[in-house]
Amino acid sequence: MHPDRRRRLLLRALLVCIFCAACGCIVFPAILRERIAFSSGTAQRWNPVRIPAGVEFAGDGACIECHRSRVEVQRATPMGQAMESVADSAILTSNPQMKLRLGRFTYEITRRGSQSIFTVADDKEVIRVPIDYAFGQGKAGQTYVFQRNGAYYESRVSYYNEIRGLDLTIGAPPAEPKTLEEALGRRLSKDDALKCFNCHSTGAVSSAGLHTESLIPGVRCEACHGPGGDHIAANKSENTEQQAQAARLIFNPARLGGDALTQDFCASCHRGSEEFSLLRTMGVNNVRFQPYRIFTSKCYSDDKRISCTACHNPHEPLKEDAAYYDAKCMACHTAAEGVTKAELRACSVGEKDCASCHMPKVEPPGAHFKFTDHMIRIVRPGEPYPN
Ligand code: HEC
Ligand code: HEC
Ligand code: HEC
Ligand code: HEC
Ligand code: HEC
Ligand code: HEC
Ligand code: HEC
Repeated sequence: MHPDRRRRLLLRALLVCIFCAACGCIVFPAILRERIAFSSGTAQRWNPVRIPAGVEFAGDGACIECHRSRVEVQRATPMGQAMESVADSAILTSNPQMKLRLGRFTYEITRRGSQSIFTVADDKEVIRVPIDYAFGQGKAGQTYVFQRNGAYYESRVSYYNEIRGLDLTIGAPPAEPKTLEEALGRRLSKDDALKCFNCHSTGAVSSAGLHTESLIPGVRCEACHGPGGDHIAANKSENTEQQAQAARLIFNPARLGGDALTQDFCASCHRGSEEFSLLRTMGVNNVRFQPYRIFTSKCYSDDKRISCTACHNPHEPLKEDAAYYDAKCMACHTAAEGVTKAELRACSVGEKDCASCHMPKVEPPGAHFKFTDHMIRIVRPGEPYPN
């Protein structure tokens, strides 16, 4: 072989080697990073109710291995139990026979094995449907969802803890239904059904629609943190570079500012000003929209000390002791670093249990439950509920 040609070949071989090495060191990890960054788009911006199509959830059972205590505690909270399967429903099993007469209609919920049957009858006819899902844990109430003629229905009567029995579902029109079909409950449009499942369960709804086969009842880890598959794979990887990426591959709402966390993230289910203007729920019924109510308080701003997570840990049960919240108020209403003059107005009336006076409890008609008004304010006796 001509020496020149051999040199050219060697040079080419060397170049190929350099190229391959470069591929190994730079290009492949770049592709890897690219792949991770692509698949983890949701890890950077995730909203609990705007879920893109094709997202796959690992289920909170997959988080147990490394986050055991958190999973066990969160699962048992009312938010974690925002939906119960009929087979597991504590309310339906401990109340095997419930009955209520409303006008000319008689309602019954009867246990049969692991099923519960919803029955409505007038003096001529009767409709019987197996209940598919139990919404809520009965802290305030539990409402039933079932299918009939290809549509989901919300039961016209619900279980209420306070009365340990059935009464009209909150929000259901009190006027007597004209037909037995109407007396069953509210026929949900496809969109309404999607919304119910999205706020009360995990993994069943995406922009492609409802897929109940992957439904996990209740608001669980991935409802708030987005799909966890990549985070788990990276944590389990032998590759230290991938491991180092793990935390970045799961959405952490702590990265949001106070206002985005409260008015966009928690409000996606708890409802903020947007839903208020859409639903126009005036008067005490809007006490259930905590993000909207707190937005109207003079205390509110884009300050993490007044965001939902300043007072509530979404992984733990609600603290029902007013004294627990005093420190949260005093984070602003006391002489401390970062506290403005406006905040530093002292209370001439009370020194503890601030929320008991400044966040009054109110009961919307028919709710059988007193909700906490998050519009923190001075409450004057006899003053009407401020909208
Ligand atoms: C194989 C172990 C493992 C599994 C399984 C796992 N995680 Fe993690 N996760 C970790 C470790 C370790 C950290 C701590 C990383 C750190 O502190 O930097 C972490 C951190 C997190 C964080 C905080 C991220 C941040 O911004 O710092 C969230 C949120 C999280 N995990 C959620 C989940 C969810 C949801 C699941 C189930 C879908 C899950 N994890 C499953 C190991 C795991
Ligand atoms: C995917 C929807 C969803 C998201 C997101 C969500 N919640 Fe909830 N939350 C619910 C539902 C549904 C309930 C009612 C559960 C029940 O009583 O059945 C609830 C109940 C609660 C409760 C009352 C628990 C009790 O013991 O009565 C608190 C407090 C709460 N949520 C705080 C938050 C905070 C803080 C955030 C934001 C970090 C948040 N939630 C985000 C759906 C959601
Ligand atoms: C936009 C999100 C959203 C939608 C849609 C939604 N809910 Fe809820 N639901 C909540 C939140 C948040 C709570 C807790 C605060 C409250 O009581 O308003 C709740 C509370 C409840 C409760 C009381 C739970 C308890 O333990 O006391 C029941 C029952 C309920 N919802 C049933 C339903 C049914 C049935 C549907 C559909 C027909 C539905 N919800 C649609 C967010 C939603
Ligand atoms: C209702 C929404 C919600 C649910 C459900 C939820 N988280 Fe979180 N999680 C949050 C928020 C909000 C934060 C950020 C808290 C903050 O601001 O510090 C967080 C933070 C975390 C962190 C970071 C460490 C920390 O405490 O700040 C880990 C780890 C985590 N969550 C794991 C989980 C796991 C595992 C589950 C299921 C058992 C779960 N989360 C369920 C909303 C949720
Ligand atoms: C300054 C503290 C504070 C902040 C901020 C706050 N809450 Fe609350 N929240 C409370 C108190 C106090 C209660 C009543 C606890 C009790 O006595 O049962 C409560 C109760 C609740 C309940 C149970 C139902 C009820 O009406 O009693 C829900 C749901 C809730 N809060 C959601 C939220 C959401 C969502 C946000 C963000 C918009 C938020 N909270 C912000 C203090 C706060
Ligand atoms: C993020 C800081 C912050 C937190 C946390 C906070 N506040 Fe405030 N609060 C303010 C500011 C700012 C004002 C407005 C002062 C002004 O306009 O003069 C205010 C005003 C008030 C007022 C007067 C309202 C009126 O209508 O005149 C009351 C009462 C009050 N806060 C009570 C509370 C209580 C009770 C808590 C806890 C449950 C609390 N605040 C938590 C910042 C805060
Ligand atoms: C027993 C009920 C009660 C308790 C408990 C209570 N307050 Fe008040 N607070 C009031 C009333 C009533 C006023 C209005 C006083 C007035 O202007 O006549 C007020 C006024 C205020 C103001 C406005 C002061 C101003 O100059 O305008 C703030 C801020 C405040 N309270 C914060 C708190 C904090 C923080 C706590 C807990 C450490 C607390 N309050 C406990 C009833 C209470």
